[in-house]
Amino acid sequence: ESTTELDVGALEVGQSIKAVFRKQPVFVRRLTAAEIQQADAVSIDELRDPQTLAERTLVDHPDLLVVMGVCTHLGCVPLGAAEGENKGDYGGYFCPCHGSHYDTAARIRKGPAPTNLLVPEYSVNGTALVIGE
Ligand code: FES
Repeated sequence: ESTTELDVGALEVGQSIKAVFRKQPVFVRRLTAAEIQQADAVSIDELRDPQTLAERTLVDHPDLLVVMGVCTHLGCVPLGAAEGENKGDYGGYFCPCHGSHYDTAARIRKGPAPTNLLVPEYSVNGTALVIGE
């Protein structure tokens, strides 16, 4: 199976990029301190799909959020990875198809999507992000 390699060395704090992994969109975001704080402030029993931000990131790269850009409702591509796009009510990603709002850890917070945006397997080596290992 194929992997996708991206150089995240130039990914600035607060910036997201869209890439493609096995023909599907993938979003990579360098979280701001405020976005991390916002995610950590949520009590996980409030969540439909309870996961902490730490469970969704690598220990050595807690500010790097890598998720599939595929809404878990019916598969639309959420907004929020490109500059100026609607990030939804929780500052993460927003799926305009039926109004699913994801938070700064890309966890589902409002709308019909049943689960968080999926975190693919990945590793980071220096500035190289390798998805699919
Ligand atoms: Fe995203 Fe329905 S496909 S809300």
